Amino acid sequence: MSCTDHPIGVFDSGFGGLSVLRALRAQMPQESFIYLADSAFCPYGDKDDATIESRVHLLMGELVARDCKAMVVACNTACSVAIGSLRERLGAPIVGLEPAVKPAARRTRTRKVAVLATPRTARGQRLHQLVETHAPDIEVETIPAPGLVDLIESGQSQSREIRYLLSNLLEGPLARGCDVVVLGCTHYPFLAGAIAEIVGPSVAIVSSGNAVARQTERVLRRSGLLSASELGGRCDYLTTGDPLRFDAVACELLGTVVRSESIGAQTSVAV
Ligand code: DGL
Repeated sequence: MSCTDHPIGVFDSGFGGLSVLRALRAQMPQESFIYLADSAFCPYGDKDDATIESRVHLLMGELVARDCKAMVVACNTACSVAIGSLRERLGAPIVGLEPAVKPAARRTRTRKVAVLATPRTARGQRLHQLVETHAPDIEVETIPAPGLVDLIESGQSQSREIRYLLSNLLEGPLARGCDVVVLGCTHYPFLAGAIAEIVGPSVAIVSSGNAVARQTERVLRRSGLLSASELGGRCDYLTTGDPLRFDAVACELLGTVVRSESIGAQTSVAV
């Protein structure tokens, strides 16, 4: 099998990266993917940096061992903590992501933007630098949202509780005139419908999935790694948690049948 036929690894703490996987598959239907969720340690957003970093390295090692030709770290929190050390240690191309502050800054007319993120991403240096670089003259309000990831992980993305939480989180920024909401966690695109209902049609909602998919295609082309296949690629799903639970929630989020395999919480490979 030629290297170009190897899969692309997509990693997240849980189900969030599925929103990025969806964009990747739409952008490059000929590619195959291995999606890996660290469900046993999700959420990352309330963990310390050392724990997040060691989990991310361990699981990216698993993707390398499974011959992935490139990796997408589809988790803002993991990127915020570990993207630098991953790039230093791994030979394969790595695509990371960050909250879509730059497109939001271009889009806002009121010059007020809200960034909804996990507690770790919200307090991270990476987000502050992003704002300084791309939105220095814009009022960017960062909203840490503990609890949202847990509710999505437990299959409650359509629940009344999540709508209540979102209304509370967004009430202040809306009252202050924000007209763009950045989804700074890859889990949140699964809440886009509920968020749109709360903020109304005059507020834009932006996320990073499509931009990451385009960037991944550029990186693969530059490295000569794009698949030349004319057939549709496949996707395998791995979880460090319970595969049956994974399949049930993933199926609800993606609207398609998912069959995952458990690799256990402690994999044997590290990078
Ligand atoms: N999807 C991850 C992100 O983008 C969720 C992080 C978490 O596990 O808290 O940050």
